[in-house]
Parts: sequence; structure tokens; C-alpha cells
Amino acid sequence: MYTNIISENRGVVQIITINREDKLNALNVNLIQEIGQEVARLNAEKNVRGIIITGKGEKAFAAGADISEFAHFDLEQGASLSKEGQDLLFNLVENLTTPVIAAINGFALGGGLELALSAHFRVASENARMGLPETSLGLIPGYGGTQRLTQIVGKGRALELIMTGSMIDAKRALDYGLVNYVVPLNQLLITCTELAEKIMSNSPVAISAAIKAVNAHHFDGVNGFQVEISEFGKCFETEDFKEGTTAFLEKRKAKFTGK
Ligand code: COA
Repeated sequence: MYTNIISENRGVVQIITINREDKLNALNVNLIQEIGQEVARLNAEKNVRGIIITGKGEKAFAAGADISEFAHFDLEQGASLSKEGQDLLFNLVENLTTPVIAAINGFALGGGLELALSAHFRVASENARMGLPETSLGLIPGYGGTQRLTQIVGKGRALELIMTGSMIDAKRALDYGLVNYVVPLNQLLITCTELAEKIMSNSPVAISAAIKAVNAHHFDGVNGFQVEISEFGKCFETEDFKEGTTAFLEKRKAKFTGK
């Protein structure tokens, strides 16, 4: 059904693999639409409790937006490329209520890193290299990178990475807090799956609420504390809350239904 991605179900975890290995998994418009469509579909599936996004092969997660598609664009086309991409995929991923982990298996550059930045957190393989090289093309990041990289690593590091266009290795990315773990390549999907499974042992409704409240911190004009109060309050009306607290008091493991 998709031409640029592979989406595999592994029980309650779904793995989406960007599948343009010969182009280092560069993100063309069609690919962006396909991932967007697939994550939206998965988010509505009750049985899918975690999504892992990775790249095909051992070399790249995604080496950026497909430069060949926009090399001739003018102002309006450039602005709409950025807006449509953000609406169709990058903002969508960030705001999914199903947890999304980026498994960075090689180069994550430009739009590739921006996709990983949209995920709820990132794990990298030892060979991974990350950067936002857009200024070397006379551009700036357009899929949310100026905002999300700054939120995650801080202004000084973000501006250095964006202005120099340099790549950093996995060790430095770990040091920056850009990725949460660095593991050997053959352990990458195993580690991400274990993390997804750990998340799944908790209440799905509480996890969705936590994503909403944490994300609210980043939106202008939105009071994150207020969103937290409201999401916190809503948890009290859920079956998961009743089950979680009852199980604790009965000294047994909770069985969450996501209701
Ligand atoms: N857009 C389109 N095609 C890309 C691409 C991108 N962002 N990144 C890589 N490719 C293509 C190359 O054109 C090449 O295609 P070809 O075999 O048909 O010529 C293929 O992927 C392999 O890439 P290549 O450059 O030969 O690999 P390399 O190992 O020598 O270099 C990189 C790897 C990542 C350093 C290099 O590909 C690169 O700099 N890519 C662009 C990174 C970038 O600027 N991204 C931001 C875009 S906004």
C-alpha cells in the first residue's frame, strides 16, 4: 500500500521504516505524506501502544528532505513546502497520543533530524550522525527544527549546530540530551522496543495526557500549567485511574484497559 515506507506490526508496537535506502532515506513529499497517513492511522488503533520510526539499512535514518524536489522552488512554494510538511507530519507526530520513539540508525540530517526531533524521544546507534545542514544550502530548517532543537538542546547549542551546519556524533548527541541512549546498531530496535514495552505497562490514557501536558509547555499562548491541571483532573474520571490506584492498594499489578 505504501511505496516509501514499510510498516510492520510487532504485537502492540508498530515499526515504521523509511524505505529509500538508495537515497539515504531522503524525505520526499510523497514519503512525508505516507508516514503522516500511517501514524494517523496507527494513532486511532487501540491495539497499537507504541510507534518506532527508523530508517532502512545501516547508513541513514534520513539524510534530509529530498533536495532534488525543491531546488527550483520560489518563496511561495518554499513556504508551502514547510507549512504542509509541518501540518502533515512533523506537528502531527509531536502531538500523537501514542508514544513515538525515533530509532536513529545512521545519518539524521535536516528534515531527517527534524522528524526525529518531533518524536517523543530518541535513541541512537553508535554510528549515528546528526545535524541541520540547511544553511549550507542557503536555507534554514523548515520542518520545525529551529524550534524543537532549541527546546531540546538549548539556544546556544542549537544555534551553533544550525549556523555551522556541522554534524555531531552519537556520543555528543547523548551529551547534549538530544538522544536518550546510544547503543550498538544491532541493539537499536531491541532497546526501543523494550522502552515502548515499559511505557505500555502504564495507563494509556495517563500517557496521552502526559504527552499533551508536556507539549503544552512549548506552545505560545498556551499555559502549560493550566493544561496540566486540566489533564490531571481528567485522569480522575478514567477507569485506568481507578484500576491503578486500586491495584496499588491491593498490592497487585494493574491491568490497564486504556479507558
Ligand atoms: N536529498 C536528495 N538526495 C539525497 C539526499 C537528500 N537530502 N541525501 C542523499 N541523497 C542521495 C544522493 O544524491 C545519492 O544519490 P545518487 O546515488 O543517485 O547520486 C545517494 O543519496 C547517496 O548519497 P551520497 O551523497 O552519495 O552518500 P555519501 O555517503 O557520499 O554522503 C551524506 C552522505 C549524508 C554526507 C550526503 O549524502 C549529504 O550531504 N546529503 C545531504 C544532506 C543535507 O544537506 N540534508 C539537508 C537537506 S535540507
